[in-house]
Amino acid sequence: MIIGVPKEVKDHETRVGITPAGVKALSDAGHKVLVEHNAGALSSFTDDEYQAVGAEIVGDAFNVWRNADMVVKVKEPVPTEYYHFRENLVLFTFLHLAPMRDLTQGLLDKKVTGIAYETVKDRAGTLPLLTPMSEVAGRLSVQIGAAYLEKEHGGRGVLLGGVPGVPPGNVCIIGGGIVGTNAAKIALGMGAKVTLVDLNLNRLRELDDIFSGRLYTLASNAYNIERAAIEADLVIGGVLIPGAAAPKLVTKAMVSKMKKGAVIVDVAIDQGGCIETAHPTTHSDPSFVVDGVVHYCVTNMPAAVPNTSTLALTNATFPYVMTLARLGAKAAIKDNAAVAEGVNTYDGHLTYKAVAEGQGRDFTPIQSLL
Ligand SMILES: NC(=O)c1ccc[n+]([C@@H]2O[C@H](COP(=O)([O-])OP(=O)(O)OC[C@H]3O[C@@H](n4cnc5c(N)ncnc54)[C@H](O)[C@@H]3O)[C@@H](O)[C@H]2O)c1
Repeated sequence: MIIGVPKEVKDHETRVGITPAGVKALSDAGHKVLVEHNAGALSSFTDDEYQAVGAEIVGDAFNVWRNADMVVKVKEPVPTEYYHFRENLVLFTFLHLAPMRDLTQGLLDKKVTGIAYETVKDRAGTLPLLTPMSEVAGRLSVQIGAAYLEKEHGGRGVLLGGVPGVPPGNVCIIGGGIVGTNAAKIALGMGAKVTLVDLNLNRLRELDDIFSGRLYTLASNAYNIERAAIEADLVIGGVLIPGAAAPKLVTKAMVSKMKKGAVIVDVAIDQGGCIETAHPTTHSDPSFVVDGVVHYCVTNMPAAVPNTSTLALTNATFPYVMTLARLGAKAAIKDNAAVAEGVNTYDGHLTYKAVAEGQGRDFTPIQSLL
């Protein structure tokens, strides 16, 4: 199979779909990989590194898309990329089609096989291609929060670990899933006092065991959240209700009672955010202040650490890339239930129910098309 890796063109996207390690594995297996010039540069992978393991470096995106059987990307195509779509093309990337009518139409019109990272589901029912980005964002949230707590960055000048004779900073994490657990690991590692709030009592039990009682667990309700937020130097929002907007658990009134110079990192901002005063920000203008509280609400936090993020993402995506290359898309979809779950568009049909419902279009189960 010929596999194409274009350079990402979405604003601020710094990751790349396949690393040199992936190119080596594909080349060793007899596949050909076309990598656009500088596709990996922002993730610190050079053209030379790709070339050394067998990639062909291509000068422009047009020739990558035109000559590849399968294009492997990171973000959903932007409108300037739609015109590369054509029949028999397999596209493996984040697609996030629900709010993207035009992109959906483009994929359907050109009969592209669109396989979305975010809907690939493994046997355990988890979303294995989303997990690594939540791990990155969770760990990063504390690192970023700690930096914003510095006076120079608008914070109240608190060192999360404290020092002997001075108590540590107080971190409140709302949501104890992948983001929250990874945030807790880093915050505890820095020596902070950590309180974690979740609705799911079984999850709190697990976390109490995992961290051997080193963090304080709290059942999620407005009373507990208000008290924890008021005491916190750093609040991290990491709740998720699958398929729904995040609930506004920290209200404007609660924020107004928080310490001046406290910091909020609302990781759940990509689902609308769980802090009422939060709104989406970008890496070029990441923070703002409400009622003296610094807010950091970047929707694609992993792009801040593209080398780690690309490696983490491709560790998870690459086995599927290999399966698709080895079997071809049709056989891979038949053979592998996780890949089948990822298929959103196939041969002009919309094959993912939630997207079809969301856009008021007809849904066709992928199994009926194979
Ligand atoms: N900003 C970014 O760059 C970025 C990156 C990765 C993930 N995210 C987002 O972070 C959020 C969390 O992701 P995740 O992978 O940790 O999800 P997850 O499903 O692993 O965890 C979500 C947790 O929220 C808890 N929860 C739900 N309702 C709650 C409530 N009312 N009170 C307290 N807890 C509640 C759940 O019980 C669960 O433990 C998602 O919105 C995800 O899209 C953002």
